[in-house]
Amino acid sequence: ERPTPPPRSSRWRSVKYLIYATLAGGLSYGATKVYFSRHPQQQMEPDSSKQTLVILGTGWGATALLKGIDTSLYNVVVVSPRNYFMFTPLLPSCTVGTIEHRSIMEPIRYITRHKQRAVHFYEASCTHIDPEAKTITVEDLSEVKGDASKATLSYDYLVVAVGAESNTFGIKGVEEHACFLKEIWDAKKIRTKLMDCIESAAFPGQSSDEVERLLHMVVVGGGPTGVEYAGELHDFLAEDLVDWYPHLSDKIRLTLIEAQSTVLPMFSRQLIEYTESTFKSNKIDIMTNSMVKEVTDKYIVLQDANKEIRKIPYGLLVWATGNTQRAVVRNLIQSLSHEQTSKRGLLVDEFLRVKGGEGIWAIGDATFTKYAPLAQVANQQGFYLAKFFNRMAQIEERRTSDLAQAQTTDDSAEPDATDFVHAKADKLLQKLRPFRYTSQGSLAYIGADRAIADLPFLNTNISSSGFATYLFWKSAYINLLFNTRNQAMVTADWVKKTLFGRDISRE
Ligand code: FAD
Ligand code: NAI
Repeated sequence: ERPTPPPRSSRWRSVKYLIYATLAGGLSYGATKVYFSRHPQQQMEPDSSKQTLVILGTGWGATALLKGIDTSLYNVVVVSPRNYFMFTPLLPSCTVGTIEHRSIMEPIRYITRHKQRAVHFYEASCTHIDPEAKTITVEDLSEVKGDASKATLSYDYLVVAVGAESNTFGIKGVEEHACFLKEIWDAKKIRTKLMDCIESAAFPGQSSDEVERLLHMVVVGGGPTGVEYAGELHDFLAEDLVDWYPHLSDKIRLTLIEAQSTVLPMFSRQLIEYTESTFKSNKIDIMTNSMVKEVTDKYIVLQDANKEIRKIPYGLLVWATGNTQRAVVRNLIQSLSHEQTSKRGLLVDEFLRVKGGEGIWAIGDATFTKYAPLAQVANQQGFYLAKFFNRMAQIEERRTSDLAQAQTTDDSAEPDATDFVHAKADKLLQKLRPFRYTSQGSLAYIGADRAIADLPFLNTNISSSGFATYLFWKSAYINLLFNTRNQAMVTADWVKKTLFGRDISRE
């Protein structure tokens, strides 16, 4: 005879208890995580018997290295002019208030205070590297300084992860009049200047020519930075400004100027065409084959596709023409000029060691390699170096303890035993694997709830675009954000924008 099944109500009760238990488990796990993230534990003090590893920067490469490094093996020192990590892929969204800038910032001390051994962080710029003396000069270049604002630090190992800066190609007027899009303060400046242009256009008695100029927003550079910014700006105009400035909104123009024949040359032909047609329907003018030659406070001078020189009035100019090296990297290249033969960045070997620089490694945009200057490259290099340094320290610690043991156990056999220990450790060091990059594809937001993606699949690339790709873009970046706190803040910003629109007040 079959057993009678329990009554429906008792089965339902079991399911209910299971759901409650899962919820309670999830909540207590989350609460414990939040508690420990806010209440870091006691840390080990720096140990003079350990090697000192100095990391320059708090960007993609440096932060990955910092997260992965085992601080019980090194004394770690971090030097950077900014005391936070910034999630650059969402920076264009901060220029118009889709996302608030603090949502994509993670204070670096939230990471350093959770390491096993205390990490020293100095908010300063490294202004000079002396590879001979193995020292660096650091300077506090912020507005507020104490009596001490310059110091020299020694390193055993140095990792240069200082990124790159915006390239002006020395074009006259760019530095003075254009806004860049690389740092948090750039996004804040763009947001302020954009609202200033619009409010000035609304000033009584403004001539129609001046209104037209003030409301002409120009982006120079059709790489991903310029395209993503243009997409975000379009959304702001279409979703918010139209309602708040009804008498001006139809006068706002958006132009993207690109020196080459297409925008986004790193994406597939199909995605380039999709972007161009989306921009066209969003009324963003694309001027290709047009090279900016000079910038004044009110005009851009360019050579257009017909080789004619034109003067274009503008209100806001965002300059996104790629990267150039920072001064500290240029100086290091000069001091290692026998091996450093490229002006485009530090040359490194397959283990990311700077050529000609004993004890110096470099990662990310500060280097010139076969890889594009991308966050995913810098991030993977940072995690690779963390593993590399952890393994190297373990091998060296083993070498030291084996040598000590060889000497105490058999004095007569000392030369043989020590040779054996060294041979074993050297062999393990030689076995360390070189850096290998795995591309996770390219993604870009192009405005109007559309994104484009070139994604690797097996041995080929899949191109995808449109609204579904936009949802994928959103979920991918939420997942990639380093911690729950930032994930919650960015999600809240997206919800806030959908419910209430973007904030149009000028900071
Ligand atoms: P960074 O992340 O730039 O970090 C450099 C660090 O060094 C900073 O903390 C800086 O303050 C510090 N520093 C600077 N000077 C000194 C000094 N003298 N001494 C000490 N420290 C110093 N890549 C992608 O793969 N996907 C994307 O979607 C994407 N979107 C982007 C969007 C924008 C708007 C921008 C500008 C870039 C984007 N990138 C993207 C590129 C990516 O951000 C870079 O490739 C990446 O940041 C490089 O990492 P990095 O560690 O080399 O340098
Ligand atoms: P970029 O180097 O990719 O593009 C700069 C563009 O500016 C080029 O197309 C160039 O032809 C043009 N240009 C240069 N001088 C000019 C002039 N005088 N007049 C007109 N046009 C001019 O630079 P970008 O976009 O700043 O990106 C830098 C790096 O960051 C790239 O490696 C890029 O892939 C990466 N990045 C990736 C993103 C993503 O994957 N979504 C987003 C943003 C950046």
